Amino acid sequence: MNRIPVWIDTDTGVDDASALLVADHLEELEIVGVSAVAGNTTLDNAFRNARDVLSLAGREDVKVYAGSDRPLIRELETAAYVHGSNGLGGAEIPASKAVKQTEKAWDALYEKAKELKGELVICALGPLTNLAITVAKYPDFPSYVKELNIMGGAANGGNVTPCAEFNIYVDPEAAENVFRSGIHVNMFGLDVTLKAYLSDADVAEISSYDTASAKLFRDSNKLLLQSHIVKDRKGLCIHDACPVIYTARPQVFEGRDCGIYVETLGKITTGRTCTDLWTDYKYEDRHCTAFLEVDREAFTAILKETYRTI
Ligand code: RIB
Ligand code: CA
Repeated sequence: MNRIPVWIDTDTGVDDASALLVADHLEELEIVGVSAVAGNTTLDNAFRNARDVLSLAGREDVKVYAGSDRPLIRELETAAYVHGSNGLGGAEIPASKAVKQTEKAWDALYEKAKELKGELVICALGPLTNLAITVAKYPDFPSYVKELNIMGGAANGGNVTPCAEFNIYVDPEAAENVFRSGIHVNMFGLDVTLKAYLSDADVAEISSYDTASAKLFRDSNKLLLQSHIVKDRKGLCIHDACPVIYTARPQVFEGRDCGIYVETLGKITTGRTCTDLWTDYKYEDRHCTAFLEVDREAFTAILKETYRTI
């Protein structure tokens, strides 16, 4: 099988860890690089967690690069209230022994994209700061990217504010620059990721597996499980696994093509991903797809297989 080369840009919090494990597990994918960015947690935590999670999966061969430690122009806001002070909800896993990469994320990403001559798929699971820097530094970068699958945004609503989802809210300028770069963006926003949840029974089943990854799942999700009860959610959303699973198995999701612009100047709407999905007026720049539906059974089965195996 010809595997799909995928690069994962991550602010390695709890569900990013799930996404990295899923990416390793899915046979359709070959992880060709990982970059860390500040967002759910600090850059130092995100870099360490990405390395350690890959090591837990036996993948110390995957190179991890550090990127930006803050948004383009704003102060960093993290989400320690759900991802804990270490980004993994306080869970502790053995430290990776892999050699630390010193090249910057944007340089390594550009080189890999160029080397793969337009075949690279990028999954971005945090604020789009690293991607925006790559686009700004290397104007030909978009021509080398096959697909950009992001967790972020929402055609409707928000989580960190009523109008904005966390990843876009943290660095809206970066997101807008990436949406305007010409790269086709597949947006896995809250519209679909709130439907991509594990029920309490699914959580109990995964927690009962006797694997290293299931122990990480149990230990890291405690804070998130409390917040899903407080927020009256149907279950535990594994937001960041969506773009990764889509890369391997697009049939699990349904989306619609549209234009997406990011609000950067709002009083109460900063970070909103405005789509033209339901308006008569259509944006000029329409090279995005907003994903709205997920086959939750297929999604859950992949998560279970992953945690049973690693
Ligand atoms: O908005 C959902 C948040 O949880 C994002 O930060 C996403 O990447 C996940 O980690
Ligand atoms: Ca994330």
